[in-house]
Amino acid sequence: MKNKPVVVLNYPFDPRVIAIELAPFAKVIIASRPEKLRKALRGADAFVSLLSTPVNAALLSDAPKLKVVSNFAVGIDNIDFKACKERGIRVCNTPRVLTRSTAELTLTLLLAVARRVPEGELLCRKGNFLGWAPDLLLGLELKGRRAVIVGKGRIGSEVARLFRGLGLKIDFITRSDSPSAVHSKLKSAQVLSLHIPYKKENYHWLNSKRISHLPRDAIVLNTARGPLIDEKALIRALKNRNIFGAGLDVFEREPRIPTALRKLKNVVLLPHLGSATYETREAMARAAITGAIKILGGKRPWNEVRFS
Ligand code: GLV
Repeated sequence: MKNKPVVVLNYPFDPRVIAIELAPFAKVIIASRPEKLRKALRGADAFVSLLSTPVNAALLSDAPKLKVVSNFAVGIDNIDFKACKERGIRVCNTPRVLTRSTAELTLTLLLAVARRVPEGELLCRKGNFLGWAPDLLLGLELKGRRAVIVGKGRIGSEVARLFRGLGLKIDFITRSDSPSAVHSKLKSAQVLSLHIPYKKENYHWLNSKRISHLPRDAIVLNTARGPLIDEKALIRALKNRNIFGAGLDVFEREPRIPTALRKLKNVVLLPHLGSATYETREAMARAAITGAIKILGGKRPWNEVRFS
């Protein structure tokens, strides 16, 4: 009988998915720690990676037989495409299945910032709620405000649908916008939500100059990637109350969150939970694993990333 291919999983993903979609077709090795991973990759035909693992030339040089890297994420900024292409290694990711959960988390952050939910929650937990007061923790009403969504892909469009349900007026910033169009949209952005992939050209997309165009009642949301925002510039703007607040699910040097950011009251911080629902994580495991198995079987899965 032909030997089964070796599939290395960077994490013990959903065991039901592994049992049904992977174990019958492959030898499965789970390797989370760098040392074990390097060793396991030596014999690997496929690698199902986490977004926190840089899949670069050094890692690939430890994996001479590798044919596919399947990222358990929609973002693929941890993968060196050039190095994969040179080696003929194909790449999959997990788009579509996480669109809704990520959009719902963006909405969660918006409401939490606008209505100062963490501040109110802390007050209750600390036993400091001393009675109803007309001016206790006033926030912003969202209906009728203008939201500018950066990126008109699947997640940006879903966020727009949810925001419209709240009565927000929606505008998009896309790659085809001129600098002056971006400028004028930023000036009217009472909510600014980022939904673009992180690539070198998007580093600090929201820089101090762009932050300075935002109105004082602006709320900045990031459920995409940390390096899209100049974190230091954002902290300055939040400290000086140049904007109302921010909701951040991602950080520039994840998992590090600067102390200055953690001290601010007008920011809601979450530990990269965009796609963290039971439904989505199961679907992501299925997409990443079946993508890898299909490629090993000589097929073209729906979630293969095309090299441009
Ligand atoms: C999460 O951040 C993802 O890219 O899927």
